[in-house]
Amino acid sequence: MRLSSVVAPLLALSSAVGVVSAVKPTRTTRQSSSQFITVGADGQFMKNGEPFRFIGTNAYWLPSLESDTDIQNTLHNIASKGIKVVRTWAFNDVTTIPENGTWFQLIANGTTSVNTGPNGLQRLDAVVSAAEKEGISLIMSLTNNWNPQPLTDGTPLVPVSGNARRDVTVGTGNDLPRNTLSNDYGGMDAYVREFSVSKNHDEFYQNQSIINIFQNYTDQVVKRYLNSPAILAWELANDARCNSSIAATLTCNTTTVTSWHATVANHVKSVDPNHLVSSGVAGFQCPNCPKLFKPTAPAPLPSGAAGKKKRAVPQLTSAYVLKERQESRKRSWDLKKREMFEQGKGMMIRGRWIAARQTTPNPMDTDLGSAMDGTFGVDSEDIMFIGNIGFGSFQLFPDQNTYGAPDPNLPAINNTIDQGISWIKTNAMVAAGANKPTVLTGFGLVTQNNSGDFVPFNSTIAPFNSSDPAVSGGIAGLPAVKAASDDFGVTNAQQDDAYTQWITAAATAGVSGAVQYQWGQGGLTGQQGTDIVPNSDTTDVVPNAGADSPNDGYQSAPTGSDGVQTTLTSLTSMFGA
Ligand SMILES: *[C@@H]1O[C@H](CO)[C@@H](O)[C@H](O)[C@H]1NC(C)=O
Ligand SMILES: *[C@@H]1O[C@H](CO)[C@@H](O)[C@H](O)[C@H]1NC(C)=O
Ligand SMILES: *[C@@H]1O[C@H](CO)[C@@H](O)[C@H](O)[C@H]1NC(C)=O
Ligand SMILES: *[C@@H]1O[C@H](CO)[C@@H](O)[C@H](O)[C@H]1NC(C)=O
Ligand SMILES: *[C@@H]1O[C@H](CO)[C@@H](O)[C@H](O)[C@H]1NC(C)=O
Ligand SMILES: *[C@@H]1O[C@H](CO)[C@@H](O)[C@H](O)[C@H]1NC(C)=O
Ligand SMILES: *[C@@H]1O[C@H](CO)[C@@H](O)[C@H](O)[C@H]1NC(C)=O
Ligand SMILES: *[C@@H]1O[C@H](CO)[C@@H](O)[C@H](O)[C@H]1NC(C)=O
Ligand SMILES: *[C@@H]1O[C@H](CO)[C@@H](O)[C@H](O)[C@H]1NC(C)=O
Ligand SMILES: *[C@@H]1O[C@H](CO)[C@@H](O)[C@H](O)[C@H]1NC(C)=O
Repeated sequence: MRLSSVVAPLLALSSAVGVVSAVKPTRTTRQSSSQFITVGADGQFMKNGEPFRFIGTNAYWLPSLESDTDIQNTLHNIASKGIKVVRTWAFNDVTTIPENGTWFQLIANGTTSVNTGPNGLQRLDAVVSAAEKEGISLIMSLTNNWNPQPLTDGTPLVPVSGNARRDVTVGTGNDLPRNTLSNDYGGMDAYVREFSVSKNHDEFYQNQSIINIFQNYTDQVVKRYLNSPAILAWELANDARCNSSIAATLTCNTTTVTSWHATVANHVKSVDPNHLVSSGVAGFQCPNCPKLFKPTAPAPLPSGAAGKKKRAVPQLTSAYVLKERQESRKRSWDLKKREMFEQGKGMMIRGRWIAARQTTPNPMDTDLGSAMDGTFGVDSEDIMFIGNIGFGSFQLFPDQNTYGAPDPNLPAINNTIDQGISWIKTNAMVAAGANKPTVLTGFGLVTQNNSGDFVPFNSTIAPFNSSDPAVSGGIAGLPAVKAASDDFGVTNAQQDDAYTQWITAAATAGVSGAVQYQWGQGGLTGQQGTDIVPNSDTTDVVPNAGADSPNDGYQSAPTGSDGVQTTLTSLTSMFGA
């Protein structure tokens, strides 16, 4: 184990992006004796004096489990698969105290109060102590961008700006229990609904009173685990951006979101200097946006590479992105021409063989696209340069975001995989330029088998749930839904292929960790009115065992039948496990 972590290709960025020629792995001479995870001079994580790279998984629902045994079993199971990091929600906001289940903070009547009881932060205590026992490191998110509210007034599903809200009135059959979805734990919009004057999402980032109220919550969580070696990082928010379930003002921009990260990162770090702080953004970049933190001169080369001849990390510019795209398009077109030639397709023009060009000009050959043009108000590169942001973070969810221009020469699944690889490489390059680690904190693809459970982050309904009468009945404003659930999503085999290629690309490009979204756990204790629903008899009011963790469309099969958990285990060695 010692040996393989030494051999791990720490700085080897893929030559395909022309970033850095493979650098021989070097150990930092400074041996960190810290019990906490730190970032070494070479811009890589250190844990117990060793370089730390990992495969991880997401389990936002983990602190909602009411049984300590369930929490221990889940983390033990995860650790036994070679997975070293778990990302979870360290927030659980409510506006009324629920009859059953867990909650951490009540936001109501113009004030907040924190629940430190057995169904409150003591659940998070159980997660942290089980993680310490299992040697798992935790990425703890402190709030969420997304919190669309379901309807509670009995009106039929109402589409709102192309989205729809689930009617959770008892008896409508649409009542997914609270906490089933990752976007049902409160978050920024819970503060905005209660405290904002303008009722715009970006008031969360700008109103100092609201910032203080949020920081007050972060203090109570962060101080609790000041000395725990199990915390890898405090993640300020999941997927922060201008717009959310509540729209932003039109003036919200990357400066707004970056400034908020700087303010709150400084605050959290002042309360807890022991642990790293990260942002949790989706990784959107904006080479053409004004910068608050990125220095105009490139960062010095990592000291670990001293004495080695090494080219500087390329700067992320729009010209760089467009050239990469063009070259990749040319490679696939050359491949396609060769195939067509072998199949006897194409034509002779003036004595030269010409393949029929099937491509039409794509606007994204000249536009950077929404992931890179500031559309979402996020510039993850600038955020990465904030002094108290310890490492970069980015996500990969092709069912919900667009990462690049589809190549017309490629089948859809190849575009999905290739754009993911390119996204991973670009984010690795940005991190190398800042000499900080970066982590792919969430990645997932919805399979056909999971499509009925898939609920987009800004929604409370499953748009491809053919067994839901409201969906198959065809509600105006909902996405077009075909008859069978398997009309959406990839096959299990395609999902495994994509995960394998993405994790491999991350390891090769120098990304420090790849955290799959999300873990599926069986054998849990069911309880009515919680997200762990008894699965044998739904009328059973007595807690029973044998229930599964929530599925929002990305759950790996708890039985292992979809191959995801085996795939993750088989790739841990790429990260020096
Ligand atoms: C808020 O205040 C109202 C009026 O005093 C009260 O009825 C309600 O229970 C309070 N809500 C919460 C969640 O405490
Ligand atoms: C901070 O949180 C505590 C505990 O929930 C609460 O009692 C207090 O009122 C909060 N302070 C502010 C300024 O919101
Ligand atoms: C900020 O929020 C506080 C608390 O709700 C409110 O009193 C204040 O008016 C808000 N400030 C602005 C500028 O909207
Ligand atoms: C999220 O949904 C709300 C309400 O349905 C809508 O107003 C908003 O524009 C959506 N935001 C995004 C980013 O899709
Ligand atoms: C961008 O956001 C900042 C901070 O919120 C604001 O001061 C500025 O006016 C905004 N710029 C534009 C062009 O709206
Ligand atoms: C936010 O959403 C509104 C529409 O609701 C849109 O006009 C605006 O461009 C969006 N802004 C950002 C930064 O995404
Ligand atoms: C598409 O992807 C599959 C699986 O990753 C691969 O075998 C195939 O060669 C790719 N096709 C093209 C045209 O790149
Ligand atoms: C799918 O529809 C069925 C039938 O209405 C319902 O029981 C189930 O909860 C729905 N699942 C989701 C994720 O909405
Ligand atoms: C759905 O799951 C079943 C059972 O594991 C599997 O046999 C089947 O191939 C999966 N469907 C697809 C499209 O991958
Ligand atoms: C809370 O749990 C009890 C006991 O299992 C059950 O009878 C009750 O229906 C649950 N409440 C809700 C709102 O689900």
